[in-house]
Amino acid sequence: MERLAVDPLAPSPDVIARAAEVIRRGGLVAMPTETVYGLAADALDETAVKRVFTAKGRPSFNPLIVHLADAADLPRVARDIPPIAMELAAHFWPGPLTMVLHRQPLVPDIVTGGSDTVGVRVPAHAVARALIRAAGTPLAAPSANLFMRVSPTTADHVAAGLGDAVDLILDAGPTTIGIESTVVDLTTSPPRQLRPGGTSRDALRVILPELGDAPEYNDGEVRPSPGMIARHYAPGTTLKPFDADRLGETLIEAQAMVARGIRVALVVRARPQLPANPLLRVMPADAVGYARELYNVLHLLDDESIAVAFVESPPSGDAWEAVRDRLVRAGNATP
Ligand code: TXA
Ligand code: MG
Repeated sequence: MERLAVDPLAPSPDVIARAAEVIRRGGLVAMPTETVYGLAADALDETAVKRVFTAKGRPSFNPLIVHLADAADLPRVARDIPPIAMELAAHFWPGPLTMVLHRQPLVPDIVTGGSDTVGVRVPAHAVARALIRAAGTPLAAPSANLFMRVSPTTADHVAAGLGDAVDLILDAGPTTIGIESTVVDLTTSPPRQLRPGGTSRDALRVILPELGDAPEYNDGEVRPSPGMIARHYAPGTTLKPFDADRLGETLIEAQAMVARGIRVALVVRARPQLPANPLLRVMPADAVGYARELYNVLHLLDDESIAVAFVESPPSGDAWEAVRDRLVRAGNATP
């Protein structure tokens, strides 16, 4: 595995040319995006995309997002594009929004999980867009983590999780949004949000007031978006939610566990007069800041072999929807 540092705002053309060559040869490049690091391959090269699934240990019915450098390239991979898609693109691209549209036959089955739809986004990261342009092809890129593990927000996370399964890691430092893109299905009426993420429901509703939700499903049923599996984004640490007004009791419970030799931590939101305590991991008080830190903290808890982390429940409201979603999924995945 090769690893190259790259400026997140002004990537060196030499580094990008090197990465583009890896892609054109059918290789895998871990690329930074504004959300999380992606494991990128030529979306039109079936063999290369198969290597992505192998590297992640991911089941192949799980579709991948196709990344474009510009919204103008959308007709290359999608057809029957509704006007609302262009409106959403104008407002939210480049950025953390994935649109599910009808696919062009050019997009291989392996990318779409055999479905007649394709998930597409234009990432807001200079390195990702420069790489897509230089490669001259759309890039299929899931998050660059092993299946069922926490998504990577740094190059170190990628290296630790995937190692030599990646040909090249582009290290542009930590990602800024910190959680994955919002996925919206525009092939249904009304359009539905399949996954909350970096673009809030509030923001989407301005353009898409009729935005609905994916239907509830039971285990074993076919899911509209495989990313919705309840166990996902899993750290090795067991997460236990607690209500904000029970901080005192929870701290006492945690200290009793420490006395029994159990490694524990409390993940809390910053607030005035928070008592200093070595068990506390203090997160930003706002949803955007919290999302940016979340996966890094989950990776750290794992690295420190913390057995149990008590996590202060995030507030209700649309701004916190994606954070709540990721915490529930991570919490469901008791090892
Ligand atoms: O922010 C992101 O979206 C990151 C960066 C790398 O772009 N990518 C990412 O990819 O999170 P991945 O593969 O981890 O998650 C893709 C999500 C999954 O929930 C998948 O089921 C859904 O998008 N998806 C992709 N194509 C789809 C399709 N045709 N229909 C329904 N859901 C789709
Ligand atoms: Mg993922």
